[in-house]
Amino acid sequence: MRRPLIAGNWKLNGSRDSATALATEVAAASSEIDVDLLVCPSFTLLAPVQAALGSSCVALGAQNLSAHESGAVTGEVSAQMVAESGCRYVIIGHSERRGLFGERDSDVAAKVQRALAQSLVPIVCVGESLDERDAGQELAVVSRQLDSALGALDSTALANCVVAYEPVWAIGTGRSASPEQAQAVHAAMREWLIGREAGAGNTVRLLYGGSVKPDNARALFAQRDIDGALIGGASLDAADFLAIARAAV
Ligand code: PGA
Repeated sequence: MRRPLIAGNWKLNGSRDSATALATEVAAASSEIDVDLLVCPSFTLLAPVQAALGSSCVALGAQNLSAHESGAVTGEVSAQMVAESGCRYVIIGHSERRGLFGERDSDVAAKVQRALAQSLVPIVCVGESLDERDAGQELAVVSRQLDSALGALDSTALANCVVAYEPVWAIGTGRSASPEQAQAVHAAMREWLIGREAGAGNTVRLLYGGSVKPDNARALFAQRDIDGALIGGASLDAADFLAIARAAV
């Protein structure tokens, strides 16, 4: 049985005060909800959010890290720095990183290696664009992204990853994939993982992301291979985020 993981991707949102308030509210309710909870604020909010989470079980994650280990790469944040900031998880290869900042599959693969080397759990994002879906290419796109990001990992490294399927057309649009559409891709991802290594393939958690809300979460989580969610907009409202988490129990 895979324990659900409910992750909030706060993106470029929040002030020190609002992020702290949100984290405090999530932390206060966390002990009553039997799932793994995670919040991913921007880098400079990691420390105040970590303080607000206190001794609760809510984990902290970053939204990105550098493919470089160190050196003359102004503006980057290394995997070691992310780990030393108290993060257990890091989102890698989000479609906004790929689309807005030109991250290629090879960059995503390098970042996954950096994360694992610092004992961070990478949440590796994959997903097709609307054009690719319309052309019936979603499984081919996702499998290419998995090959590149995870294909070189041994079974121990693979077991330490989380994969998030986020169809680009569903992110921030209010148009979630249907539970059946999401499950079809998740089943293919599970098959890909098991093909790599049966043990790890069965335990790696597969999150769905893209317009997850309290009113569609339960039907998504009822699917066999959907083990949680990566949530953008709805994670900025504590009541909505917690309602989604409760739907996973
Ligand atoms: P959304 O974003 O829930 O606002 O669609 C999901 C994500 O980008 O991770």
